[in-house]
Amino acid sequence: MTVTRASAPRAAQAATQAITATGLRKSYGDKAVLDGIDLTVPAGTVFALLGPNGAGKTTAVKILSTLITADAGDLSVGGHDLATDPQSVRAAIGVTGQFSAVDGLITGEENMLLMADLHHLPKAEGRRVTAELLDRFDLVEAAKKPAAGYSGGMKRRLDIAMTLVGGPRIIFLDEPTTGLDPRSRHTMWGIIRGLVADGVTVFLTTQYLEEADELADRIAVLNNGKIAAEGTAEELKRIVPGGHVKLRFTDPGAYRSAASALGEAVRDDDALALQIPSDGSQRELRSILDWLDSAGVEADELTVHTPDLDDVFFALTASTVPAQNNQPKENAR
Ligand SMILES: Nc1ncnc2c1ncn2[C@@H]1O[C@H](COP(=O)(O)OP(=O)(O)OP(=O)(O)O)[C@@H](O)[C@H]1O
Ligand SMILES: [Mg+2]
Repeated sequence: MTVTRASAPRAAQAATQAITATGLRKSYGDKAVLDGIDLTVPAGTVFALLGPNGAGKTTAVKILSTLITADAGDLSVGGHDLATDPQSVRAAIGVTGQFSAVDGLITGEENMLLMADLHHLPKAEGRRVTAELLDRFDLVEAAKKPAAGYSGGMKRRLDIAMTLVGGPRIIFLDEPTTGLDPRSRHTMWGIIRGLVADGVTVFLTTQYLEEADELADRIAVLNNGKIAAEGTAEELKRIVPGGHVKLRFTDPGAYRSAASALGEAVRDDDALALQIPSDGSQRELRSILDWLDSAGVEADELTVHTPDLDDVFFALTASTVPAQNNQPKENAR
């Protein structure tokens, strides 16, 4: 790993960037899992790393949280250089791994107190923080029971509560909601939003594009060792084609006259539906409606399809998914 000398602009940047990575590389054998990636996460924001299974998400989290070392790259977390000052990085962060760190043989409360000890909190302070977090994560009732008996959602909440014992300002959440039911997932989203409201920076990985869409300020898609795309959810959606307006008719006559006059539309004769490429903007919608009016035909239903993150994901990671998944998903809104 290269050591960088702190220059004035770089120091100023470190104050606002919670995480920066430049040229991050990691290989296992001859497989370049991370092939020189760049990431920047401003303090107080949520960054989501997406990618298919085996893309290197967990590897990136492990490197940035000091659990393993990179082969190369300038990496800074919480303003501390990962290569020269991993101890300071460790003091600034919390990590919730992809697989639970909860010890099932002891109670939820004991798990928390153990974390407090690991953080060298004075006994009374450890008890206070534990009680507060158990309450915040709705685990008071279960606190005195062995964690092995907790549901998946309860274990995940305990996992995150344990991560927060040391009061980290930057937290890494590796697939925080995988395996949770929709209600537990929404609870977890609320928890993450609460952390961000307190000014915590969140670096999360997820398989759920909807989750990245809901939570993340910026999203990066990792594929074949590279960042295939990076931006806000809206920016990413704009890079894939597939936006269209769908007109449905119940009267075959109206359908036929609309279809013959609208040459560029894709016809679905069975469904009496026409699909017109469109960015979904007000201007384009108005021109479609004007055209329908002037042709004297009335559609029974008009739906606007804007690409969603699933479309982006399939488009960007096409080479690593089975052929039948390569097509952008139909997802009328
Ligand atoms: N310790 C290791 N030794 C050898 N190969 C490894 C090791 N850890 C990870 N890999 C390989 O690196 C690649 C990336 O793994 P990683 O766990 O980072 O992927 P991921 O994006 O987190 O996947 P998932 O979505 O399944 O959690 C995989 O091909 C994996 O087999
Ligand atoms: Mg993983």
